Amino acid sequence: MKFPILRKGLHYLDNAATTQKPEIVMDTLKSFYENSNANVHRGIYALSEHATSMLEDARETFARFIKAHPEEIIFTKSATEGFNLLATSISRSFRMKGKNIVTSEMEHHSNFIPFQQIPDAELRVVRYSEGLTPESFASKIDQDTIIATFTGMSNATGLITPAKGIIQALRNKNPETIIIIDATQLAAHSRIDVRELDADFLCFSAHKVYGTLGVGILWGRKELLRKMSPYLYGGNMIDDVSIEKTEWTEIPYKFEAGTIDAAGIIASAAAITSISENFGENNKREESLRDYALKRLKAVEGLDIIGHDGKGKYGPIISFTMDRIHPHDLATVCDKYGICIRAGHHCAQPLMKALGVNSTARISLSFYNTEEDIDALTMAVEEAKRILK
Ligand SMILES: Cc1ncc(COP(=O)(O)O)c(C=O)c1O
Repeated sequence: MKFPILRKGLHYLDNAATTQKPEIVMDTLKSFYENSNANVHRGIYALSEHATSMLEDARETFARFIKAHPEEIIFTKSATEGFNLLATSISRSFRMKGKNIVTSEMEHHSNFIPFQQIPDAELRVVRYSEGLTPESFASKIDQDTIIATFTGMSNATGLITPAKGIIQALRNKNPETIIIIDATQLAAHSRIDVRELDADFLCFSAHKVYGTLGVGILWGRKELLRKMSPYLYGGNMIDDVSIEKTEWTEIPYKFEAGTIDAAGIIASAAAITSISENFGENNKREESLRDYALKRLKAVEGLDIIGHDGKGKYGPIISFTMDRIHPHDLATVCDKYGICIRAGHHCAQPLMKALGVNSTARISLSFYNTEEDIDALTMAVEEAKRILK
């Protein structure tokens, strides 16, 4: 796979924010707009029918990627939109008064705020200090728990939650609870099988799995999706509209109102096909880069790594703080050497509060990174110490 932007000698260590795009994505986008562009599911002329069939092929690609049925794949504009869709649609469809929602302190804001903002339902939060375990989730849940939502992998620390075990514990306590998984970070680093996982919904963003910006994937169990009210209203999601009332069309289209980014979805599916070829090998490469980075960073005096302490499983994301150096200053020094790292609260302020910090520096690795990228980072970290301390 070729990643044209990496030819520029970048040390790109911010893959949790967005991955770089393989050439096939740009080629597919260009080719779609040059040869196939038409609005999908609307025209009855050949060009539109061709674009529609490309879109539906892309839906099948995403379905295969997570072992789902194509009709259970809904295209959104982001994982964020997926969580907003779920929070809104579930509260439009089920009685929320007297119910509670269970989530964790480790969530990205996009999987926290939409559920926090549901009126009437109590929010119960599994604290970071309790550990994100089947037991800590089970202790929060009761017969009134309508939703449980949690991340498969923390964007802030890289911690991989024992999702299957947590889901089993939730199901044992309350089989009716709607279980949502945030797979936004997990999707690039672990094979997902939604049936085996046994959740009800799962969301991720294409741009974090080498696809384009502006495409989200929401998987949901068809029995639930059929029962739920739409999120957005508009074109292409109706069966019949009259002045008195509207009848919705079938899933997944009921949840895809308006013109969707067919070009981006089709190009993102090309990325998925491409990464699927070497998925296991790529993940192994990421693990070995993570271990190399941990070894190099642990050797830096005054640098504190969050987690990666032998308790729990971690993906290729490493967050750290440095004695008397603000993460933003560190990121600025790194930038001088063409090293892109993230500094901030990572849209996880409840977690930052639990950790007792305002922000951290974070590196997140992809299989296309190299040991040289990590060597450049450690050099820049030492340089930052020299300049800033
Ligand atoms: C764990 C996690 N969940 C959700 C999101 C939201 O993704 P998006 O901004 O693509 O909607 C992110 C983005 O960083 C994330 O890391």
